[in-house]
Amino acid sequence: MDKLSLLAITTVLLISAVTAAVEDPIIRQVVSGIEDQLLNADHHFASFKSKFGKSYATQEEHDYRFTVFKANLRRAKRHQAMDPDAVHGVTKFMDLTPKEFRRQYLGMRKPKNKLGLPADANKAPILPTSDLPDDFDWRDHGAVGKVKDQGGCGSCWAFSTAGALEGAHFLATGELVSLSEQQLVDCDHECDPSEYGACDAGCNGGLMTSAYEYTLKAGGLEREEAYPYTGTDGTCKFDKSKVVASVSNFSVITSDEDQIAANLVKHGPLSIGINAIFMQTYVGGVSCPYLCPKSQDHGVLLVGYGAAGFAPIRLKNKPYWIIKNSWGESWGEEGYYKICRGTGKNLCGMDTMVSSVAAISVVPQ
Ligand SMILES: *[C@@H]1O[C@H](CO)[C@@H](O)[C@H](O)[C@H]1NC(C)=O
Repeated sequence: MDKLSLLAITTVLLISAVTAAVEDPIIRQVVSGIEDQLLNADHHFASFKSKFGKSYATQEEHDYRFTVFKANLRRAKRHQAMDPDAVHGVTKFMDLTPKEFRRQYLGMRKPKNKLGLPADANKAPILPTSDLPDDFDWRDHGAVGKVKDQGGCGSCWAFSTAGALEGAHFLATGELVSLSEQQLVDCDHECDPSEYGACDAGCNGGLMTSAYEYTLKAGGLEREEAYPYTGTDGTCKFDKSKVVASVSNFSVITSDEDQIAANLVKHGPLSIGINAIFMQTYVGGVSCPYLCPKSQDHGVLLVGYGAAGFAPIRLKNKPYWIIKNSWGESWGEEGYYKICRGTGKNLCGMDTMVSSVAAISVVPQ
């Protein structure tokens, strides 16, 4: 083949690739969706209010929330441009400023320097990674309970912890039991040994590793039904005789993504910290922002990974992680978030605060 025809073919290929990207119906729908919402913000605010059952006490409050809603539509549009493999748009958080959103729906206390580790934390040994499956999802193996909702309380850390122990308990006993986050919210005041005054504090935030330490010392967690979630700080009503799941030990995992995958497959769902900035407007798809802050502000549960997420603009399949969140099933992909894997960039800080817990089976009294 001569050089000229090779060049011609390459050009044709390139042009068709670009055209495919531009004309992809999903992309057009999303981009024009947000444009349309900005133009018809009134109408879309009305449908937002009815969809999520929002009402505001005064006209003043209503008007202020409408302003916030419009600002968030513009933010969703910026997120869409920075994160083209995901879909960003209207979520139930669209009437909250980023600050309100952080305070009410996140809640992972930021460790000041390096994460201080509780006295009983182990370092996870390096595992072999050559035989890892291409796709793995603990939901297919019965280790993941239904998506819960933390409500307007910064207790994400308690949901991440309880979710990890639910998985570990399943691996130890073959039984999936929903565990009490409220016990952690009310009773866990474990402090970070490296930082004075930094302690787990209910709706005001906490850390998963500290919560494992509390659970180890306390003897375990009660069932969700025995100590139900209220979404507010309360006094501790823990009854040790009602413990159903106990911590045997817990470990922190290195930030190597293959090690994270190997630990996930071997030990069950893992607690991770992540920066949630793109999650306020996330609707679905694989989130793979060009830039994302690495400071973790949200505790979630890593439950699996996939080899080939569909990425319309980049015209190739992207591997991704599957993350269980605690904002109810109406958020994201039925309560789940996908973030791209193998970027080598510690995207949104998700590789650096990974921990696993092991359970021992307890005989209820
Ligand atoms: C953690 O607990 C599990 C289950 O009891 C046990 O098999 C494992 O050896 C323990 N790991 C460490 C580091 O103590």
